[in-house]
Amino acid sequence: MSTLERAIKSLPEKGYLDIEIPQGINLLDEINRLRKEKNAIILAHYYQTGDIQDIADFLGDSLQLARAAEKTDADMIVFCGVHFMAETAKILNPTKKVVLPDLQAGCTLADSCSGEGIREMRKKHPNAIVVSYINCDSTVKAESDIIVTSSNAEQIIRSLPEDQEIIFAPDKNLGRYINQVTGRNMILWDGSCYVHEAFSLEKIGQQMLIYPKAKLIAHPEAQKPVLQIADFIGSTARLLDYVVEDDCEEFIVATEEGILHEMKKRAPHKKLIPAESDDKTCNCAECQFMKLNNMQKLYLCMQYELPEITLDEEIRLKALRPINKMLELSKKIK
Ligand code: 13P
Ligand code: SF4
Repeated sequence: MSTLERAIKSLPEKGYLDIEIPQGINLLDEINRLRKEKNAIILAHYYQTGDIQDIADFLGDSLQLARAAEKTDADMIVFCGVHFMAETAKILNPTKKVVLPDLQAGCTLADSCSGEGIREMRKKHPNAIVVSYINCDSTVKAESDIIVTSSNAEQIIRSLPEDQEIIFAPDKNLGRYINQVTGRNMILWDGSCYVHEAFSLEKIGQQMLIYPKAKLIAHPEAQKPVLQIADFIGSTARLLDYVVEDDCEEFIVATEEGILHEMKKRAPHKKLIPAESDDKTCNCAECQFMKLNNMQKLYLCMQYELPEITLDEEIRLKALRPINKMLELSKKIK
């Protein structure tokens, strides 16, 4: 059996092609060559490692990445993010090849929910519509009426009739926050992001004492006590804009640490302090799933066009409707 055949055989278990890369190979040059040769586009989320963010053709938050995937005329989409994001790109581009450097790049929010679970919830609330956060798998999207991201959730919920009963899945923290700012009473699925849930109110309080001039900025996936003391709440793209545009010179940033890479590039003179977390291993806020992708796996997935995202066509078509609805409803959002 060849090395490639062996790597393909172990792909379902490992999630990536386990092939040794010859020493001396310049990964950056090789990725650039493959990008041209294969007419590929590299899309990366702000939570990827800095080297991947730097090499991407397009860097963005979940909404911006969904839009970039919708617009591209590349033949191959190389998605540097997590599985549900690559799936979204495939839902929007059935004829294009979509590859993800590591298939095991999952998400605790997406894992907390299933299409079956949504069907059960609908039975209990037959008059409700289902609005799902984009951090969910294709089976959940297929059972949803509208998809939202953290950039457009508030605006989309506000656009719905006030007496409309709504089931919001799967992020209870984002759902609770939207309920609070809109005055709605959405029924919430009990899911959460393990990275944003781990922020420690106590440690952030200490950081605020050390940096009294700093503003606390937080992603709405964080828990209520953190959001209650935050000066600004927004998606990764909004947090980035806020750091660049606000007069303040110091920020405590309560979201996944990967975003600091682009923040430092766009606001090099500002002091950026990652909010501390109760994570037992590193005290930091790193998404282990986002960090499964690396330059080696990126090169291999471009070279061999594996692992590839595939979807059942019936599910894909059902999942496409609520995504298109979101793209239509959020046209005015940056
Ligand atoms: P946004 O990209 O919408 O800010 O969401 C962050 C996130 O958790 C992605 O997994
Ligand atoms: Fe999922 Fe949280 Fe990781 Fe985002 S940061 S991919 S929400 S686990």
